[in-house]
Amino acid sequence: MQGRISPEAGQRVYTPLVLSIYDWYVLEFSCGKIWQCSRERLLAQYQRCVGPRHLDVGVGTGYYLDHVRFPTTTPEVTLLDLNPESLAHTSRRIARYSPQLVHGNVLEPNALPDRHFDSIGLSFLFHCLPAGGGGKWRALDYLGPKLAPGGTLFGSTILGSSAPLLRQRWLMRVYNRSGIFDNRADDMDALEHELHSRFDDVQIEREGVVALFTARRRSAPARDSAHQPD
Ligand SMILES: C[S@@+](CC[C@H](N)C(=O)[O-])C[C@H]1O[C@@H](n2cnc3c(N)ncnc32)[C@H](O)[C@@H]1O
Repeated sequence: MQGRISPEAGQRVYTPLVLSIYDWYVLEFSCGKIWQCSRERLLAQYQRCVGPRHLDVGVGTGYYLDHVRFPTTTPEVTLLDLNPESLAHTSRRIARYSPQLVHGNVLEPNALPDRHFDSIGLSFLFHCLPAGGGGKWRALDYLGPKLAPGGTLFGSTILGSSAPLLRQRWLMRVYNRSGIFDNRADDMDALEHELHSRFDDVQIEREGVVALFTARRRSAPARDSAHQPD
């Protein structure tokens, strides 16, 4: 099934009003009670994976960035989002890290800064991205090369296919019809395939209808290893 093409609908909903209730409504209520994955579990993933030079894509309210303990007191944090309200909200919240802000679409090749990161976080992003056009997974083509050697790409996404509970199927349908989600075709097989075809050390776990994934930058062939960027 071909989904929507424009990325607009997946970010338009994040108005200041929605952002003011997001932590409670999305991260506590929906995440725990509907999607059956606690925000503590997602925070634990951040805690395991976040590095000193971190790029966060699709930042929302910045809840995890605010609560995670970075491995250094002076992390370099870069925020990328298509919605200026999400960027403003998160940058205020983690102003203590003086984050660098990038207003852009993760589905466009030139949106990303020209540097490398120890970690790239993609929490609750893929289910918002359009399945149509060039497809949502092409974001991984642009993000992969931004990982420093040994760097980790990690995140979580709500899988739209095979939701076992009635309330999950109902809310998924409402969000897909309104364009907030575009995840009807997203399942574990698709996620596994898209990650394995681009990264090494891929790990995916499922909690409720949420997939949590980590992946490392693909090692360069031995003859190119002397030319790796830092
Ligand atoms: C569901 S929120 C996730 C927020 C946060 N990462 C979390 O885990 O709670 C999705 C975020 O992705 C952003 N977003 C949606 N489509 C995007 C795109 N094409 N490029 C960049 N950001 C996008 C939205 O503006 C919003 O801030």
